[in-house]
Amino acid sequence: MVAGIGPGAAVHLTPAAREALAEADVVAGYGLYLDLIRDQLAGKQLIASGMRREVERVRAAVAAAEEGRRVCVVSSGDAGVYGLAGLVLEELAQRDLVLPFRVVPGVTASLAASALLGAPLAHDHAVISLSDLLTPIELIERRVRAAAEADFVLALYNVRSRTRTAPFEAALAILRETRPSDTPVGIVRNAFREGQERRVITLRELTLDDADMLTLLVVGSSQTFVWRGYMITPRGYCLGSEK
Ligand SMILES: C[S@@+](CC[C@H](N)C(=O)[O-])C[C@H]1O[C@@H](n2cnc3c(N)ncnc32)[C@H](O)[C@@H]1O
Repeated sequence: MVAGIGPGAAVHLTPAAREALAEADVVAGYGLYLDLIRDQLAGKQLIASGMRREVERVRAAVAAAEEGRRVCVVSSGDAGVYGLAGLVLEELAQRDLVLPFRVVPGVTASLAASALLGAPLAHDHAVISLSDLLTPIELIERRVRAAAEADFVLALYNVRSRTRTAPFEAALAILRETRPSDTPVGIVRNAFREGQERRVITLRELTLDDADMLTLLVVGSSQTFVWRGYMITPRGYCLGSEK
C-alpha cells in the first residue's frame, strides 16, 4: 500500500489512510513524515530514511512486501503528487513483480494551501515543481512560461532550497514578463502544521526570500482577485447586480 498522509494535522489524515496504517506491519517513509503520524505507528517496524534516499527506501519496502509483510509506504500530502506512489509502481513494473497494491489518496499541499488562501484554484490551474534535482531547469522554465502565458493559476511546489535557487529566480523572471505586477500571490508555509504561515501579496512584492522547501506558492491568473485577504479565482457564475 502507498498512502498520502495529508499536509500535517491529524484531522487531515483521511480515515482510509488511517486504516491503511492500522493494517500495516511495516511503515516506510521520510523521518519528518513519520513524526507527523507518530501516534499511528506503535508496534510497527519502521523503514525511515532521509531526503534523497527514496529509491533505497522503496526497495526496502518492496523487499519487506515480498517477504509477505503488510507494508505501507507513506508520503506527505498525496502520494501520487511528487510522492512515492510512482516510484513504488515503477519498481514493481521494472521487475514485473505482482504484489497486492493500492494507493490511498491524501490532501495534497496545493489543496491545503488553497483552502487557507480562500478559493484561488477554483478555475483551471497548473501544478509545477520548481525542483531541478530530477527535472532539467530548461523544462521547468518552459512549463512555467507555457502555463503563465495560457493564464493558468500556478501552484508551485518545491519552490527553493537553501542552495537550489536558480529555478525560482528563473520562474520569477518569467512571471514578471508574462503577468501584471499586481497579480495576487499566495504564500503558504507549513500548511496545517506547527508554524503555519499564510500571506497574500502581489507579484511585484514577491522575492526569493519568500519561499523555502516548506512553502507552497499560488500565483493568480488574470481573473484572480483579493477580497479582505482571501484570494478568489471566479468560475464565472453570474451573481447579478444589487438593486
Ligand atoms: C516533495 S513535495 C511533496 C508533495 C506532497 N506529496 C503533496 O502532495 O503535498 C514537497 C513540497 O510540497 C510542498 N508542501 C508539502 N507539504 C506542505 C505544507 N504542509 N505546507 C506548504 N507546502 C507544503 C512544498 O512545496 C514542499 O517543498
